[in-house]
Amino acid sequence: MIVKAKKANFNFYYAPHAIYLFQDASLSDWSLFDIGLFAQSLMLAAHAKGLGTVPQAFATDYAGEVKEVLGIPSSKRLILGLSVGYPDLESPINGYRTERAEVAEICRWLE
Ligand SMILES: Cc1cc2nc3c(=O)[nH]c(=O)nc-3n(C[C@H](O)[C@H](O)[C@H](O)COP(=O)(O)O)c2cc1C
Repeated sequence: MIVKAKKANFNFYYAPHAIYLFQDASLSDWSLFDIGLFAQSLMLAAHAKGLGTVPQAFATDYAGEVKEVLGIPSSKRLILGLSVGYPDLESPINGYRTERAEVAEICRWLE
């Protein structure tokens, strides 16, 4: 399943649309935090409209090609690709659930 999922990166997980997030390359490292928040808000907004998204850092391996095809100047840095579409909930891949850490594993409460 992992190999199949990796290959699916190349065709946007069969989604009909893709969004690419770029940032000006002159921005500081902290701007990655900003665009990360933006990306999550975008994914939540899409979800609220019934759309599924797949964030794909993989796209950055092909930043040069993506920028060339889309006519994006070299002064921009590709941060993330997002495949977007209505999810096929019958597809087995969409039934796969990643594990979640328990809150106690990632949070320490002080009283
Ligand atoms: C910032 C970010 C980048 C990711 N990049 C990829 C990627 O390039 N290819 C991929 O198959 N999954 C990538 N993933 C993982 C999937 O998009 C998705 O998070 C994973 O299937 C688990 O989904 P879930 O967190 O809803 O369980 C990335 C996730 C995040 C948060």
